Amino acid sequence: MSDNKKFYITTPIYYPSGKWHIGTCYTTIVCDAIARFKRMQGYDVFYLTGTDEHGKKIQTGAEKCGMTPMQFIDEPVTALKKLWELLDISYDKFIRTTDDYHKKAVQKIFQKLYEKGDIYKAEYEGWYCVPCEAYWTETQLVDGKCPDCGRPVERAKEESYFFALSKYQDRLIKLIEENEEFLQPKSRRNEMLNNFLRAGLTDLAVTRTSFTWGIQVPFDPKHVIYVWVDALTNYITALGYGSDDDSLFRKFWPADLHMMGKEIVRFHSIIWPAMLMALDIPLPEKVYGHGWLLFGNDKISKSKGGANIVDPFVLCDRYGVDAVRYFLLREVAFGQDGSYSNSAFLTRINTDLTNDLGNLVSRTVSMIVQYFGGDIPEPASELAPDAELKTMSEALYAEVAGYMDRLMIPEAIAAIFRLVSRCNKYIDETKPWILGKTDEGRERLRTVLYNLAEGIRVTAVMLSSFLTKTPHKIFEALGVKDKSLMTFDSVMKWGAIKGGRVTKGQHLFVRYDLEKELKEMEKIAQQLTQSKTAPAEQQPENTVTVEQIGIDDFGKVQLRVAEVKACEKVEKADKLLKLTLDVGGSERTVVSGIAKYYTPEEMIGKSVVVVANLKPAKLRGIVSEGMILCACNDEGDFSLVTPERRVRSGSEVC
Ligand code: MSP
Repeated sequence: MSDNKKFYITTPIYYPSGKWHIGTCYTTIVCDAIARFKRMQGYDVFYLTGTDEHGKKIQTGAEKCGMTPMQFIDEPVTALKKLWELLDISYDKFIRTTDDYHKKAVQKIFQKLYEKGDIYKAEYEGWYCVPCEAYWTETQLVDGKCPDCGRPVERAKEESYFFALSKYQDRLIKLIEENEEFLQPKSRRNEMLNNFLRAGLTDLAVTRTSFTWGIQVPFDPKHVIYVWVDALTNYITALGYGSDDDSLFRKFWPADLHMMGKEIVRFHSIIWPAMLMALDIPLPEKVYGHGWLLFGNDKISKSKGGANIVDPFVLCDRYGVDAVRYFLLREVAFGQDGSYSNSAFLTRINTDLTNDLGNLVSRTVSMIVQYFGGDIPEPASELAPDAELKTMSEALYAEVAGYMDRLMIPEAIAAIFRLVSRCNKYIDETKPWILGKTDEGRERLRTVLYNLAEGIRVTAVMLSSFLTKTPHKIFEALGVKDKSLMTFDSVMKWGAIKGGRVTKGQHLFVRYDLEKELKEMEKIAQQLTQSKTAPAEQQPENTVTVEQIGIDDFGKVQLRVAEVKACEKVEKADKLLKLTLDVGGSERTVVSGIAKYYTPEEMIGKSVVVVANLKPAKLRGIVSEGMILCACNDEGDFSLVTPERRVRSGSEVC
C-alpha cells in the first residue's frame, strides 16, 4: 500500500436491482472495515461506492413497467442507500452514473481516446449476455451460455466503436507478471494471465446502438457508451477528473485499493488498466478480487429441508448489524469462497460474541460493581499472569495492523479475540470470587479488575473498525468518555484507563438456543419466500448461490470409470487434449482442457471419471462425447479425479 498518508478505496458500483442479499453486502462491509481501520491509523481516507445505472437491462425493465429509466431506478437507489446506512457503511462519496458531472467526464474521456486513435469505428458481431451487458466470443462461452452468470446469450451484430485493447496486451502481461501486488489474490493473477491475457486480447466494442439508455458518444449520438466503460470511469470521475475541480483527483488518485468480487476481476484488472494506460493516468496500486458468499451448503438446515435467511434487513433487525458484520468478516477466509448458513451464523453469535466477548464484559462490570461499588479500581500490584496479559495487549495493534496490511481480515479479528480469551483465562487463573473474600485478596483484586477493564477497553478499540455498535456499548459500560481512550495510540501502552464508573447495562449479545432459533429462522425464511411473487423472481439477481438439487437430479448424471487408451494434443489449442477412452469395452473420444497440467504420455493408462451421458459437443472440430472430472485448486490448477483403488473400466461412480 502506498506510504503517503492518503488512502483511496473503492467498491464496485452496484446495479440498482433492488434485490440485495447478504452476499452483495460483502464487498461493501469489507471495504468499510478497511476504510475505518485506515482512518484510525491516521490516513486521510476516501471511500467510494455508488450505483451503475445505465444499460439495456434498465431500459427494458423500465419499458415493461411503463416508467422512465430514472423513475424505474429511483426506488432501488434509495433502498441501497438505506441498506448502507443500516450496515453503517462509512463511505465518503456515493456516485451515480446518471450524475451530470460523471456523464460529462465520460464523454470527455471518450473523445480523448478517440482523438488519440485508441477508439475507432468498425462492425461487431458476437454473443451478448443482456444481464451482464457483456459480449463473448464463441470460445469464451461455457456450454453455449454466459461464462459469468450461466444465462443464455443472444447473437448480436452492430456497428460499433472499438477500444484498442489488444495494443495494451504486452504492457498488461508485464504489469501483472512483474508486480505481484497489483492483482491479488494469486489465484486471480493466474486466472487473468492464463485465461485471458496470454490467450490474446481482442479489441473491445465500446459503444452500442441497440438501446439508448446510456451516455451518448459526443461525436456520434446514435451510439451510447458501453456500460462497463461508463462504469469503470466512476473511479476517477467521482474525484472530479474531467471536471473544473479535480482537486480530489490530484489528492487521492491513484486508488490504493479497488475491491470487488471475483467475477468482475477481468474488467478491473485488464480493461480498466488498459483504459488508464491509454489516458496516461497512473494505475491503481492494487486490485483485489474476493470470493463469493455461497448459500445452501448447510447440512443441518438441508437435512431438515430448511432455508437460509439472506435478507440483510431481516438479519440486522433480528440479530443486530454487528452480528452480520462480524459473521461476514470473520467467517469467510478472505479471498476465497465462504458459505452462509443459519447455523454457522448463530454459532458465531453464541460462541465468539456472546460467550467470549459478551460474558467477559458483563462479568467484569458486575464484579467491579460488587467489589468496588462500580468504580474501576486503581491497580495495586503487578503479578504474573498480569505481565503476560499486558505484553499481549501491547503487541496487539502491531499484529492486527500487520494482518490488515495483507488484507487478512479474519486473522486480524481472530487476533483480537485471542486477547478476549486471554482475559477470560485471566479470570479463571486469578479467581476474583475467592480474592473478594479476604482483605489481602481484595488488594490483589484491585489489580485484577483494573487489568480486566483495561483489556476490555483495548479490545473495544481494536474492534472499532469491524463492529460499529458494540465498541461504543463497551465504552459506555466502562464509563469511558474520553475520545483519546478510543484511539490506536491509546492501546500501544498498557494502562491508559484511569478510573471511571462502570454501568451495568443489557447484555451485548443474546445467547440463542440453537435448535429453537434455527426453527424460527426457517419459518422466517419460508415466510419471506412465500411473500415473493413468481418463483423465477425469488432469486436475487446478483445472488451467487449453490443451487440444491434432489437425488433424482443427481441420478440423471451418469458417472463412469474409464481408462485412457490413447491421448494426443489438439492442434492449435494450447489447453486441449484429445483422449480415447475405454468405458466398459466401448470406446469414445473426449476433449479435455487439461493440456497445461498433463502430457499425453502421462495420461495413457490412467483411470479417470467421465460424465458418460453428457450431450456430445464439438470442440475445435472434434466431437467430444463426455467430460472427465478434475479438481481445481485456488491457483486454478487442475488435478484429475481418479478412483482410489483399481476398478474395472465402465464401473459406475455413485
Ligand atoms: N455494476 C457492476 C460493477 C461495476 S464496477 C465498475 C456489478 N454490480 S453488482 O451489483 O452485481 O455487484 C456488486 C458487488 O457485489 C460485486 O463486488 C460483486 O462481486 C458483489 N457480490 C454479489 N454477490 C456476491 C456474493 N454472493 N458474495 C460476495 N460478493 C458478491 O458487478
